[in-house]
Amino acid sequence: STVSWSAEQTGKSGYDHYMLKEIHEQPTALRQGLSGRLDELSGQVTVEELDDVGTPETVHFVACGTSYHAALYGVELFREAGVPAQAFLASEYATGPAPVPEDGLVVGVTQSGETADTLSALREAQGRGAETLAVTNVVGSTAARECDHALYIRSGPEIGVAATKTFSSQLTALNLLAETLTDGAAGSRDLVGALRDVPGDIQQVLDETTAEAIVDEYRDHESFFFIGRGLHFPVALEGALKFKEITYEHAEGFAAGELKHGPLALVTRNTPVFAIVTGDDERARKTIGNVKEVEARDAPVIAVTDGQSDVERYADHVLEIPETHPRTAPMLANVQLQLVAYHMADRLGRSIDKPRNLAKSVTVE
Ligand code: AGP
Repeated sequence: STVSWSAEQTGKSGYDHYMLKEIHEQPTALRQGLSGRLDELSGQVTVEELDDVGTPETVHFVACGTSYHAALYGVELFREAGVPAQAFLASEYATGPAPVPEDGLVVGVTQSGETADTLSALREAQGRGAETLAVTNVVGSTAARECDHALYIRSGPEIGVAATKTFSSQLTALNLLAETLTDGAAGSRDLVGALRDVPGDIQQVLDETTAEAIVDEYRDHESFFFIGRGLHFPVALEGALKFKEITYEHAEGFAAGELKHGPLALVTRNTPVFAIVTGDDERARKTIGNVKEVEARDAPVIAVTDGQSDVERYADHVLEIPETHPRTAPMLANVQLQLVAYHMADRLGRSIDKPRNLAKSVTVE
């Protein structure tokens, strides 16, 4: 017998949606993004595009949506290396006098390189004499052309409106950026090893995930919360954005420690809480304290964890990720949350690749 494929299915390589295809493309996308940029012997990162960029006094990131979450992650990397950094929502950067830093570098994180809010923040920075750099996927995009420098994330084309593989590629590229611009002060030899291993670790998450089985239990729930601390905080925000974008259900991401300052009032048996906890350090213990607070209010808890702490004791379900470097753990946790959003949206019959009211590239302010 013969199997016939429509042109559209061929484009999706047999996956039901571009989003699922792109989630599964992440190991390949990250290998492309790292290719020729890691030197295992010296434990160093070499990125040709950044040869003529010096160590900045300060870094400002400007970005929107998912790219803003990547920027929040990038901020932490520069701060760890002793370079003051801040992330701004691009649409808010120049609502008053833009806080453009003297002798600073302004980094626009934009997958498409065409987002109007981000372009206008970058232009504002340029107008005030700042050096600008675009972290983008699209060669020849407006951001790449207009900025002084461009770092390409090399994710390959992304068709789904929901950004998935490009977020992972952005986090990877931001590690390369921070390492290069701070002469390795941001990380170390074990980071290079962890980056090299991340495509394989993501493959393991994709092969072993139980996200699809878990979502069934929660399809009639009211609101969905995502919590994380440190580098997991941007991933909590991203998990919630992805979830609301394609399921049309209410979702919010919070810094785990902020729950008790307000959001805890919303927590009931109808509000599942996805908690990202890796390692077994002070941060993990504090987040587990926050998990206990929601568990005590009868909220279902889904822990995304590498199994190093005892968070499982307080969780109704566990989404496991392999043990890895603190820098790469958020990438693995994020893949589980992408799959949660995807499978929930699929159960609810949503328009996954083209969610209502949204466009892939937002070219108006
Ligand atoms: C992510 O799923 C969204 N589609 C959206 O938040 C997106 O990341 C944002 O519009 C920014 O796009 P850009 O990276 O192309 O600038």
